Amino acid sequence: MKTMINVALPKGRLGERVYAMMEAAGYECPSIRENNRKLTFENEEKGVRYFWVKPSDVAIYVERGAADIGIAGKDILLEYRPDVYELLDLGIGKCRMAVAARQGFVDDTERTLRVATKFSRIAREYYAGRCRDIDIIHLNGSIELAPLLGLSDVIVDIVETGKTLYENGLEPRETIVPISARVIANKANFKFKGDRIEEMMDKLSALIR
Ligand code: PRP
Repeated sequence: MKTMINVALPKGRLGERVYAMMEAAGYECPSIRENNRKLTFENEEKGVRYFWVKPSDVAIYVERGAADIGIAGKDILLEYRPDVYELLDLGIGKCRMAVAARQGFVDDTERTLRVATKFSRIAREYYAGRCRDIDIIHLNGSIELAPLLGLSDVIVDIVETGKTLYENGLEPRETIVPISARVIANKANFKFKGDRIEEMMDKLSALIR
């Protein structure tokens, strides 16, 4: 029997695109297309097993070895720094981490800047690098609201099309880092399944090129 590679896929639109790439690379699992509420699917012949997990949890499954590999956004990897290998940039799920503010906002550098974000570590490191004093306001969603209600001066958040910012009277100011989907691997499991995983990465790379 083939060694199974356990793959944590991020539930949602990005995960569907990742699965389509896996399928094109020869790791299909037809039962996944049967729309039900199951969370695990396997194709023994291809030696692959998929799990649907919450996108922000993928790195946890992989770091602890419950999944051999997984697909996570670079934003999550930068924020949580899981102890995993980063194997491949899939070139999808592209967006950027940016600072945004109300249109016309002028930063008074004499004052502590209030920054609302879900990505506290990324924000802290970014402003530390610029020697700017900040006060982090950690939120879990709807970050765009914070400057509108005077809760913060700026936000640090993901910008894809910029539509959410625009519709809320905000504008992007500085790009912190470009983001895309990455394949990550558990370090210990990679020792045993490295050959199979590398073969998988080669097939995915060929698709990207
Ligand atoms: C992200 C981000 C913005 C939006 C940006 O949210 O937080 O709200 O996408 O996209 P745009 O530039 O194309 O408008 P996401 O939909 O990932 O969900 P979240 O609110 O859980 O972060």
